[in-house]
Amino acid sequence: MSSKKYVLALLESKRNQSISGEYIAEQLNVSRNAVWKAIRELRNDGYKIRAVTNKGYCLCEDNDILSVEGMLPYLSQEKISEKIFIYDCLESTNKTAKEMAISDAEHGTVIIADSQTAGKGRYGRTFHSPPNHGLYMSLIIKPTQYRFSTPTLITAFSAVTVCEAIEAISDKRPKIKWVNDIFLNGKKICGISAEAITDFESGNTQWIVVGIGVNYSTPATDFPEELRYIAGSVFGSDTPPTTRNHLAAEILNRFLTQVNQQDEKVMLEKYRQRMFMLGKTILVSGTAEPYEAIAEDVDSNGHLVVKKADGEILSLSAGEISIRDVTGYMS
Ligand code: BTN
Repeated sequence: MSSKKYVLALLESKRNQSISGEYIAEQLNVSRNAVWKAIRELRNDGYKIRAVTNKGYCLCEDNDILSVEGMLPYLSQEKISEKIFIYDCLESTNKTAKEMAISDAEHGTVIIADSQTAGKGRYGRTFHSPPNHGLYMSLIIKPTQYRFSTPTLITAFSAVTVCEAIEAISDKRPKIKWVNDIFLNGKKICGISAEAITDFESGNTQWIVVGIGVNYSTPATDFPEELRYIAGSVFGSDTPPTTRNHLAAEILNRFLTQVNQQDEKVMLEKYRQRMFMLGKTILVSGTAEPYEAIAEDVDSNGHLVVKKADGEILSLSAGEISIRDVTGYMS
């Protein structure tokens, strides 16, 4: 680690507290001058660091710059940090993750970007990914490292994980729109997409890349006009109580420690509890003529079980259809 990163790690571990230059220099075994240089570099990178007379340096509470050092105080295991790669801007974290997976990246490798120029949603849609306020991340998962009976359950697991992480850092209680959109106060605050890399000859899944895009504190004005009625963010106009680094760490802690030891039934129950469309009349559209049905349940494969007006029960898989509340209200 460079001096700059060590200094940042120290400051991040004692946010909003002053640390003397002397103490930092001693801890890192470098000169006071090297500490000053590191502070200057961090300020050039955009960090707000106060110099308090006779007390030292203080990383202001409102810094929200993504970094491994900023995640460290919140990661449950330090080893998770060894496989986190953070970028200012990427075309798409999923694209970079797939390239890394093909080049033999390890299970648990995580790619995070502050912004994306071509963020990808499901069904070829774009995922708007402006800088400074969002969390765009992709996790590389090896199929031998998870226990789900059906691979697609990993998306349900991801949705539960993100909800739990948001609940851990705030008093917000997000809801899930089947299959893997997360809503708060009627607006979409997170989208999740999982992509598999399959061996052409054997048909075996080699890697899964789970992409998670969270609008953390994105102001409505950062969304294009046509998205403003549907897209929201976790903290909307509230001042976030913590940082994107904290949320990222809470997601990774849960995801990476639980992906290979999840009790599928328990996970699906947590998923059902957060769904906001169960028991409601929804409009199903996709392959056939759109029809109305009641969303009854999610089965053990993660399929949506619906009951049509004539009593027919159908089990719908995510790829086939899109659904929406007939009232148009999403929570
Ligand atoms: C959707 O809403 O349809 C899914 C959106 C998934 C967006 C995330 S952001 C991080 C990762 N990189 C991408 O290009 N897409 C996913």
